[in-house]
Parts: sequence; C-alpha cells; structure tokens
Amino acid sequence: MIRIHCCKDPVELAQKACQWLVGLVASHIKCETRPFVLGLSGGSTPRALYQQLALTDLDWNQIQLIWGDERNVPSDHTDSNFLMVQQNLLSKISIPVENVIAIPNAGGDVSLAAAAYQRLLRDRLPRNCAGETIVDCMLLGMGEDVHTASLFPQTEALKDCENWFVANYVDKFASWRLTATAAFINRATDVAFLIAGAGKQTALQQLWNSPLDSLKFPSQLISPNSGNLSFFVDRAAIANVNFPSGAEIIE
Ligand code: 6PG
Repeated sequence: MIRIHCCKDPVELAQKACQWLVGLVASHIKCETRPFVLGLSGGSTPRALYQQLALTDLDWNQIQLIWGDERNVPSDHTDSNFLMVQQNLLSKISIPVENVIAIPNAGGDVSLAAAAYQRLLRDRLPRNCAGETIVDCMLLGMGEDVHTASLFPQTEALKDCENWFVANYVDKFASWRLTATAAFINRATDVAFLIAGAGKQTALQQLWNSPLDSLKFPSQLISPNSGNLSFFVDRAAIANVNFPSGAEIIE
C-alpha cells in the first residue's frame, strides 16, 4: 500500500513524519524487546525531521541508527551525511554509542568502506526467527533526477541485486558514493520518502506516472517487500502531479 501524507509545507512535513515515526517506534516497543532499526537519509529535507526527533521523548536505548548512503568524505567534512545527523540529532540526544552504526572510514578506500559497512549491517542488525536481517524503517529523500540514497540514474549500483551496500561511481559528480542498494532498502518493514519543494514536481510526476525505467528513474526501484511505502510530501512538491492509482491520500 502506498500512503501519501500531504503536508502544507516543509515544517508540517517534518512534524507529520516525526509523529508517524514516533508511532512506529511506540508500536514496536509494545511487542518487541529488540531495538527499532531506523535507516537515515542524507540531503537537506530530513534535517528538520531530525531536529523534531531530537525534541521527542523517544527512548534512544531502544533505537539503532544506520545510514542509507554517504558521500565518500570523512565524517567531519561539510558534505558528510553523518555530520548532518550529528549536528541535527546525535548532538541533541542521549543514545548508546553502540546504537549508532555509522559507515566506517568514509573518505578512504570506497570499496573497502562499503564492504566493511555491509559486514557491519550483517553482523549488528537483529534477525527474525527465520534468520533474516531486520530493518524497521528506512527514510529516503529523492533528487530532481529521481535518484534516492546514492542510487543515481545510469549507475552500476542500480543493477546490483545481491549486495546490501556498495560503492557507486556517479558521473555527474565525478565522484564515488557509498549507498544501500534497492535490494537492501526493500527489506525494510517501512520505507518513507521525504520530498519537499516545487523543484521535485517533475521528479514525482516521473516516479508515479512514467513507464517503469529504473535506470532512468531509480526511485522506481523502491518497492518494499512488505508493501509499506509512504511519502511525506508538501503542497509545492505535489502541485500539478498525478497521484499513483490506488494510493491512500492522507491530508
Ligand atoms: C544524499 C541523499 C540523497 C538526497 C536527495 C534529496 O546523500 O544527498 O541520500 O539521496 O536524499 O538528493 O536531497 P534533498 O533532501 O536535499 O532535496
């Protein structure tokens, strides 16, 4: 089921996404003893959500954080997604260090870093009774080229159905990125896109209405095995955009 949460503006988008996430964690804690595994997005849209999350009374002892992607820069570099989360969330909450599963050695050998993170994910994340690794929620953004995480159009990572986390060369930036694959993202019980601004209208129209072409429109690869796909969008992003058929629209 696709659920589309329509928000007035980026502030309300952050508030609604925060309330939704707090609800997911609360439900989780009622029936699970293991931590809630939350995958974080980079980019600018999630910043306000992270600031909102820092103001909640979430029990961060019960939450494990992972990253959906990273630029190949050190964690203190201004482009670092880790640094953005550090500044907007981690520095404002009390969370056990072992619950923050960050990408090791970003900025160094990108293939080694991707392989190391994949091992970390396999070793550190909880498993269900069938031995399958569990991710409870992956947060994602989407670029104007319909990329998500660091799954950019016409890049090799789009074709990887085996790995969970890979190094991905992005021609448009002439640089390497580290990214979760769609195969990993789709394992999550819930996936939520956070998309705001008029600049995303065309990308949303392509995502929801263009014929399937995941090399051209990578976010089309995101289809959680659970079926739980949510979008938090603001009015500017959805103006003149046709919603996908069958989606539940939540005003
Ligand atoms: C990143 C993100 C990327 C981002 C989109 C949207 O590392 O930048 O993972 O996929 O979510 O580019 O970015 P904005 O939220 O800034 O529009």
